[in-house]
Amino acid sequence: MRAAIYRRFGPPEVVGIEEVPTPSPGRDEVLIRVCASTVSAADYRARTRIVPSGLAVPVALALGVFRPRRSILGMDVAGVVEAVGADVTTFAPGDEIVAMLGARFGGHAQYVCIPASGAITAKPDNMTFAEAVALVFGGVTAQAFLDRASVGPGARVLVNGASGAVGTAAIQLATVRGAHVTAVCSSANHDLVTTLGADEVIDYAVADFTQEARCDVIMDCVGNAPFRRVEGALNDGGALLLVVADLKAILGASRASRTSGKVVTAQEVVYTAEALSRLVLLAEAGKFRPVIDRRYDFADIVDAHRYVDTGRKKGSVVLDIPSPTSSSQEGPQ
Ligand SMILES: NC(=O)c1ccc[n+]([C@@H]2O[C@H](COP(=O)([O-])OP(=O)(O)OC[C@H]3O[C@@H](n4cnc5c(N)ncnc54)[C@H](OP(=O)(O)O)[C@@H]3O)[C@@H](O)[C@H]2O)c1
Repeated sequence: MRAAIYRRFGPPEVVGIEEVPTPSPGRDEVLIRVCASTVSAADYRARTRIVPSGLAVPVALALGVFRPRRSILGMDVAGVVEAVGADVTTFAPGDEIVAMLGARFGGHAQYVCIPASGAITAKPDNMTFAEAVALVFGGVTAQAFLDRASVGPGARVLVNGASGAVGTAAIQLATVRGAHVTAVCSSANHDLVTTLGADEVIDYAVADFTQEARCDVIMDCVGNAPFRRVEGALNDGGALLLVVADLKAILGASRASRTSGKVVTAQEVVYTAEALSRLVLLAEAGKFRPVIDRRYDFADIVDAHRYVDTGRKKGSVVLDIPSPTSSSQEGPQ
């Protein structure tokens, strides 16, 4: 199979497409023929090892000290089950699925193996593979963080970094729960976040949201909203959801929760099939839609990485991965 391989950490050019052996599924695994994946902020971090302050050592231990431990990036996939292991009863060849591989990575390839018990579920039946995969990375992350707070009708939720993959999902998922959503983004993304359901928009270049808004929940998808900065903007009993946090914020989260009576969380997300299924149901009901900024052919993966490295993408950057049997570079629609 063809896979996008990186053998050293660095700029987009460290990634190259190579022919490598196709994996075979273990007894409890599913082999997926990948039709689409995304190039995400996690791929940027894993490829460059540029991470929030204090996390360089733990991340090096996880990803590899001298060279990448896993040579294929890509946290999410949409595709078709090609084969299943002997013990798998929940999926069958031909099933169309979406999956979150998380820290296992491996989605930037024509095939990947996933445990059948992992975060894998049926693809929304009203979406293409490209659309479906764009729901996954931001969707599971935003949903997991929102689940840690009380986000019900009338709750005031502020999303900092509202135009990225996680932010665009968070706006929609908080809106579905009946929240009043304030989006913090640049003026260029004002229309996008409003279309997704934001009730108010704050341009971060013009105003400091901590002085402009009082909220029940703040989700920080940028990494510039530590508890000491936003405490005054949070109502009593409110929650700070740190999607991006440095070591100091991670270590200080439980103490901040204890002393303030507010929820402060930076805990890692555990990806599950149940969580993914909830997103798929919302997508099929028309309540959660993909935001695709750009699509790239697999052959142009270095360009996709270059674009993600700008830090300016809106929603997802989708990678179309051609079938091994197709002569064209185009992936399925
Ligand atoms: N904890 C977890 O499990 C987890 C999971 C997923 C992601 N993450 C992390 O969460 C962060 C967000 O992920 P993502 O996928 O949403 O990233 P992304 O899609 O790459 O975010 C890009 C967006 O960020 C916006 N942005 C940049 N600077 C900003 C600022 N100062 N204020 C407001 N918006 C700003 C950009 O808008 P403009 O161009 O308009 O500035 C752009 O639309 C990343 O750091 C990622 O590593 C953590």
